Amino acid sequence: ATRKLLLLPGDGIGPEAMAEVKKLIEMMNADFNAGFETEEGLVGGCAYDAHGQSISDADMDKAMAADAVLFGAVGGPKWDGVPYEVRPEAGLLRLRKEMELFANLRPAICYPALAASSSLKPEVVEGLDILILRELTGGVYFGEPKEITDLGNGQKRGIDTQVYDTYEIERIAGVAFELARTRSNKVCSMEKHNVMKSGVLWKEVVANTHKAKYSDVELTHMLADAGGMQLVRWPKQFDVIVTDNLFGDMLSDVAAMLTGSLGMLPSASLGAPDEKTGSRKALYEPVHGSAPDIAGKGIANPIAMIASFAMCLRYSFNMVEEADRLEKAIASVLDDGLRTKDLMSKGMTEVGTAAMGDAIIAK
Ligand code: NAI
Ligand code: MG
Repeated sequence: ATRKLLLLPGDGIGPEAMAEVKKLIEMMNADFNAGFETEEGLVGGCAYDAHGQSISDADMDKAMAADAVLFGAVGGPKWDGVPYEVRPEAGLLRLRKEMELFANLRPAICYPALAASSSLKPEVVEGLDILILRELTGGVYFGEPKEITDLGNGQKRGIDTQVYDTYEIERIAGVAFELARTRSNKVCSMEKHNVMKSGVLWKEVVANTHKAKYSDVELTHMLADAGGMQLVRWPKQFDVIVTDNLFGDMLSDVAAMLTGSLGMLPSASLGAPDEKTGSRKALYEPVHGSAPDIAGKGIANPIAMIASFAMCLRYSFNMVEEADRLEKAIASVLDDGLRTKDLMSKGMTEVGTAAMGDAIIAK
């Protein structure tokens, strides 16, 4: 099979982390006949420097044609002054919008070797493996009206509007139930139906979707504020959490901190399945940014990027066994005591970006 990947390394440590994934892809092609075909493009500050856009139309076309996009990170102080429409983040926002990536998957996994360095008690996080599913293209970040109006009496009014339509809730709920079936078969939906009309609709549509097509999955509902509390108190009670754009933004950042360094966290953003082929548009990226403070030093942790590629194997290519093996290789290298600088603790062996990548590939 041919598997078409577009690599968008971006700025700062993006290319350094992506270099380790490139080695992995070459190894998989050579040793396992994986059939990956890669193309590369520019996104973010480097794209602005090359042609004045945060992503070119040509690279956008490549993204639309690829089976999956691997994205590094964008931005840095060098581009602080560039016009708003072509700032580095605009490239990522354009990709999300034009690829219609409505489902954002943020796993929170606590590798056994890192449980002791979590911000929570080891017993609370050890063995943690949950998935926060955030709706990414609707809700209060995009609803209209969105403006600041002048009230004329020295007062202004800032307005954002939370809007969700049935189809938007149905499709994210469908992704949640399907993901749950491949995991521990549990979904918890979070909203605030006690104070928000969009929350009332959210709860109702999730329940209807469940009843119609997914009644084999265990479904619970929780108010999002209580959900935040439960995530910190006893996160292992959850499997898949599905929630809207705003709550998902906050809850996924909370969940992220259960597991240690920013350098460990992968993510996936998926679109709707194609009606004919069933394949989805998809973009995989680490949660971290371009880390200008450590860029160019060869010390960035490549695990978030490598774990994002594992998600790509799992969700875009159904290479479940390969994804499991890659995730086990990451855990195993950590068990051996290898640590990049961001993870370092007493008694461990400090390695750079390339050595960490090589060790994972060797496993
Ligand atoms: P950041 O995630 O780049 O860095 C925050 C801190 O974590 C830094 O001290 C950094 O050294 C460390 N860190 C991050 N990733 C690491 C890794 N893989 N290994 C070791 N240490 C790591 O966030 P920050 O500093 O707020 O933003 C820096 C730039 O990145 C800004 O221009 C920002 O706009 C951009 N950014 C881009 C994102 C993206 O491309 N999706 C997401 C977040 C920020
Ligand atoms: Mg956030």
